Amino acid sequence: MEVPTMTDAPHITGDVTVIQHPLVQHKLTLMRQKHASTGEFRRLAREISLLMAYELTRDLPIETTEIETPLETMQAPILAGKKLCIVSILRAGDGIMEGMLDLVPSARVGHIGLYRDPATLVPVEYYLKLPDDIAERLVIVVDPMLATGHSAAAALSRLKQAGATQLRFACLLTVPQGLRVLTEAHPDVPVFTCSIDRELDEHAYIRPGLGDAGDRLYGTK
Ligand code: URA
Repeated sequence: MEVPTMTDAPHITGDVTVIQHPLVQHKLTLMRQKHASTGEFRRLAREISLLMAYELTRDLPIETTEIETPLETMQAPILAGKKLCIVSILRAGDGIMEGMLDLVPSARVGHIGLYRDPATLVPVEYYLKLPDDIAERLVIVVDPMLATGHSAAAALSRLKQAGATQLRFACLLTVPQGLRVLTEAHPDVPVFTCSIDRELDEHAYIRPGLGDAGDRLYGTK
């Protein structure tokens, strides 16, 4: 089955990037396969997230600093400002956060936990821990599956309330419906994904998808 790309989803108006790098697409295909073991799935999540972090940080500001090489002094490029902050939406976001930290080891890390109230279906926050200076950092919010988009939209709202002004959202998979919810609620937040899949099923699972990302990362089913 052909999975849709942004050109097949012209009704999505937000700033959405589908990461088409061949290594990313290859690793995603391996992750989707039902026979991938917990260990393989976790390793692939880590590798693919490192590659995603490369795309997400393409335009970080650079300044120059004077350094000494063994031979002479030079003006060399270095990242400007405070290092970024990765915020994981619990629990599956941790599987993406780890790979990003491999590439940006000095990034700060935040966590947000939300559950959906079964009666009202409204996302309720049960955990929040963020760096104090989140307002001064580029914040990359990670959750492997952007499904209905409601938890992600609530997480972004909470982070803005905590002072974050510069946000990006990264997921492995999404669907047009979830993308629409997120980009309409937060048109200022660029979204990076590896695939826009076909649809959500009646249980809000992404189809064709990869199953339950948390269970596959942690072997809980
Ligand atoms: N969360 C998952 O882990 N998988 C889906 O398909 C949708 C939401």
